[in-house]
This record gives sequence, structure tokens and C-alpha cells, in this order.
Amino acid sequence: MNYNKKTVKDIDVKGKKVLLRCDFNVPMAKDGSGVITDDKRIRAALPTIQYLLEQGAAVIACSHMGKPKGEVKPELSLKPVAKRLSELLGQEVIMAQDVVGPDAQAKAKALQPGQIMLLENTRFEPGETKNDPALAKAMADMAQVYVSDAFGAVHRAHASTAGVADYLPAVSGFLIQKELEVIGGALANPKRPLVAILGGSKVSSKIGVINNLLEIADTIIIGGGMAYTFSAAEGGKVGNSLLEEDWMDYSKEMVQKAKDKGVKLLLPVDTVCGDKFAPDANIQVVKAGEIPDGWEGLDIGPETVKLYCDAVADAGTVIWNGPMGVFEFPAFAKGTEAVAEALSKTNAITIIGGGDSAAAVQQLGYADKMTHISTGGGASLEFMEGKELPGVACLLDA
Ligand code: 3PG
Repeated sequence: MNYNKKTVKDIDVKGKKVLLRCDFNVPMAKDGSGVITDDKRIRAALPTIQYLLEQGAAVIACSHMGKPKGEVKPELSLKPVAKRLSELLGQEVIMAQDVVGPDAQAKAKALQPGQIMLLENTRFEPGETKNDPALAKAMADMAQVYVSDAFGAVHRAHASTAGVADYLPAVSGFLIQKELEVIGGALANPKRPLVAILGGSKVSSKIGVINNLLEIADTIIIGGGMAYTFSAAEGGKVGNSLLEEDWMDYSKEMVQKAKDKGVKLLLPVDTVCGDKFAPDANIQVVKAGEIPDGWEGLDIGPETVKLYCDAVADAGTVIWNGPMGVFEFPAFAKGTEAVAEALSKTNAITIIGGGDSAAAVQQLGYADKMTHISTGGGASLEFMEGKELPGVACLLDA
């Protein structure tokens, strides 16, 4: 896939209406109070929005939130986002009551250069996730230029993430530009050695990433729940640990592929186990593959921590996707924390995939020490799998 795309800097937006796709799919308080619990994605969109407004564009921002499945669900309205965005920008954000209905159309028509409005949740429209051309055209008809800055949604071929580019000149914003430069650069032309740290609970959710990174990386480090499937595949005892029996053969294949390709594949050598999945579980450290019955692996052990930290010390680039253990429980956060700390100390380019790993780095206080923390969960995963991203492919080549 070509990552070299035109950006907002390559197109004249002065006096034009710009449809700007953002990823404002932010976490909200569960009590229905409309409180945004993490506004990172809104902040991440600010540089592009501010640039467009300064250039004299009229900005029609849009985004999805949650999965309303084509129905209007008031609890998934973007109104709280408009409020927060307005506070961060220090100017009014005009909120439309619909996506392409009469209210959005009228407000878009009246919008002046330097003003910004926000359409309602694009997934309130049934055509959004079906990439319905009629919906894409209706959105495009409100504007003259399409800017995508929704990196978190570029793996979706939806009307607002890809379809609209059939009707308007389409370029990227600064957020997508940076994600493409940093992650794309690490995949296409990494500063070596390239070390990939892959964790998280399931092998099944990382198969594409392991497979693709085995083609590119010099070292692959496996941690988290998925390590127990690798361990069981080698004949290890994993007790009550997470195990995906259907993926044991795949794990063996990956170990063989690493050998064939001369990629160093590091698996845990010891494990911190608990007698239950709980923050107050009793703990013992055992050798990998020797987890007693009734116990489950919940973190990598101290010997593994040393092995993994040594492996990143002289890396040129480190890509990290997925925690090493159940970092939400302090007793089982040590492996993830040690890896985060090691990354904060290396001179390597450090790239953190979105989702859980981004949350872990944030929660543990190392966020500002990393080169790049992706704003995309599923999107960064698919990027690392080497898949074509529809929301990027649709943009104009530079
Ligand atoms: C995300 O949160 O990863 C993006 O906003 C994409 O959301 P989706 O998985 O609902 O498409």
C-alpha cells in the first residue's frame, strides 16, 4: 500500500467547505451522564482543525460513536463531543441534529469560513457501515474538499471514511499523516534491529500481526495471555491459564517460521501465577510450562522481564502491541511496567499500538517517553498486519 498521501498542506482550502472525518469515538461514563472519560482522540484532532480554521475553511466535522447500527440512539449522540471540542478550541462548535438531514444541510449551507460544525453520529445512518454511495454523496454534497484525520477508523470502508472520496478531492490531516509516517516507516524501512513485542490475551486476535511481522522484524517477543497457547503447543503445563487449543498448531507454525526466517522469537521463561483471576489472588512464580493445576498465568516472571528488557535495550525500532499481563491488577502489572520502563530508556524509535497497550503506557505514566502512541486500536493492528486500509487507500497519492 502507498502511504505517501496528499495532506491538507497540498490543497487550497481557503473559503471552502471542508468535510473533516475525525475519530471522536471516545469513551463515555457508563452512567449516561454524557461525561467523556478520555478526550485524547478529540485533542489529537485539534492540529488539523485549527489549521483548517486558520486557513479560512468552514469545517464540517463528522465521526461515528459506538455501534448504533443505523438507528438514532440518544446515548450515542455526539453532543458531548461538540461541547468538549468547543472548550478545547475556544470557539463555538455548531451541533447538527442529524447527519445529512435538513438540519445538517441548512447549517452546512450557512457555515462561514473560520466556523466549525459537527454532524451527528454517522452511524445513525443505516448507509454508513454499508458504504452506501447515496449517503456518501449526500455528505460530500455539503462540502468541496474531504479531509480524513480519523486514523482509528481507516480500517473501515464506510461512507464517511472511504465512500465520500469518490465525490471530493480527498487528502489526509496531520494525525493520519503522522501515523502513516511513523508506523508505515517502521514497517517499510525500519531502523534495525526491529523488535516487535506482542502481547494481549489471544493468539487468535494477533495471527495476522505475528505472521506479517515475522517477515519484517529481527526479534519477536511474545507475552500476555497468548504466551500460554504457545507454551501448551510445546507441551507445557498451563493450568487454568488462557488457552486457545484451536490455535496451538498455528503457534507451532509460527515458531517454525521464525526458525526458517532466522527471526529471534522470544517466549516467556517464567510466569507469575495466581490461584484466581483477581487482584488479591495468591501468587507464585514458576518456570514457563510448569503452571500447577488450579493456578493461572497472569504476568511474565522476573527472568522473562530481564530477557525482554535486554532485547529492547539495543533496538533501533520497537513496536509494541498488547500488554504482558493483567496490568489492570497491580500485582500482575510488573511485566508490562518493566517493558514500558525499558522502552522509555532505549534510544530506539518506540511505537505503541493503540488499544490496551496505549492504555497501559498511559496508566503506568510512560506516555510522554514514547516516540508515538497510535490513536488507532483495530486500525493500527490491521496496519501492522500489512492489510490495505480503505480510509487511506481512498486518499490522493502525493
Ligand atoms: C475504534 O475505537 O477503534 C475506532 O473508533 C473504530 O471503531 P469501530 O471498531 O466501532 O469501527
